[in-house]
Amino acid sequence: MEGTAQSSIPLGDVLNSRRRRTFVGRRVERELVRAGLESADPQLSVLFLHGPGGIGKTTLLGEFAEIAAETGASVARLDGRDIPPSPSAVLAALGEAVDVPDTGAIARAEERLCLLIDTYEVLTPIDEWVRTQLLPRLPATALTVIAARTPPSSEWRSDAAWSELLRVVSLRNLTPQESREFLRAVAVPPPLHERICRATHGHPLALALLADVASRGGEVSADPLTPDLMAELMQRFIAVVPSPAHRRALEVCALARVTTEALLRDALGLEDAHEMFVWLRQLSFVDPGPDGLAPHDMARDVIDADLRWRDLDAYTDVFHRVCRHIRHSLLSCTGREQQRAIFDLKFVFRNLPGVLSPVE
Ligand SMILES: Nc1ncnc2c1ncn2[C@@H]1O[C@H](COP(=O)(O)OP(=O)(O)OP(=O)(O)O)[C@@H](O)[C@H]1O
Ligand SMILES: [Mg+2]
Repeated sequence: MEGTAQSSIPLGDVLNSRRRRTFVGRRVERELVRAGLESADPQLSVLFLHGPGGIGKTTLLGEFAEIAAETGASVARLDGRDIPPSPSAVLAALGEAVDVPDTGAIARAEERLCLLIDTYEVLTPIDEWVRTQLLPRLPATALTVIAARTPPSSEWRSDAAWSELLRVVSLRNLTPQESREFLRAVAVPPPLHERICRATHGHPLALALLADVASRGGEVSADPLTPDLMAELMQRFIAVVPSPAHRRALEVCALARVTTEALLRDALGLEDAHEMFVWLRQLSFVDPGPDGLAPHDMARDVIDADLRWRDLDAYTDVFHRVCRHIRHSLLSCTGREQQRAIFDLKFVFRNLPGVLSPVE
């Protein structure tokens, strides 16, 4: 969420991250949002973006946040990953992001609001409430962008009230030209561009990951193509990490919901984890968020499965160290921090039944 006080990463770092410098394409969508926010009589209230994992929805929302700030709008950014799917949780998260006055209307009418809701597919249980209760409470000039892996439910399209004000956009892979532009921006040597474009078909996450592999001297060709390209690319990345300690840091990051310097320090037994944190933060598949670093889901799954398969004892050890750190926060904080620690603990346990014994 923009402007969250508890941020463990300076906002400037987030805004200046390399994603901004390496962003390519999506011209139509960016113009749509800019025009919507600059128009005195906006014809667009909701832009619904959908597309598979790694296609670039979150990255594009980041661009929209920048555009909205440039137009002077106030930006509220919510992510379904961080909010339980209930109206009260969404309202609480929104209340932190924007001013909610006593009248019950969200944000003052004279203030242009740009509401960005990411990972909406996990908020499906409250889809009807969002459509019929939440969004109608926003000022008429507000622009909401929803990003989900799945298209909007049929009710969005069949509701006559929405038909004029809703645009649905399916995000696709980057074009070969955009893909090359990206590879130039991340300084991949031109002789490798053709092979990387062919291997990834312009899928942004695969492209970014293979660019990382290339910059570390790893193998970039992908012939024949495997059915699970992401898993294959992630394995290649794991093969070229600089040291066993870096691999361990990657594993901590894959297990925990979010990774902070303090977690890395505890989990890796380091006195100073700053360098390791900086290394993690610059990886193409790791996102810096307000609570800490989080790897992309697809990367998380592969790293997690790799460690479990390779060495269950090491996996158990990382798991216990991460849990100990979270339990310590749970006992030493209150209020919202404590809620977050509970959320973190549930996350760590989410796919463990039958694999490990409970934390000691
Ligand atoms: N337009 C873009 N320009 C440059 N790189 C991009 C672009 N879009 C995506 N990427 C790269 O692809 C990665 C994955 O994109 P992103 O996290 O936005 O996908 P997503 O659609 O939100 O996936 P998920 O559904 O799993 O959340 C980004 O971390 C970034 O490295
Ligand atoms: Mg995303």
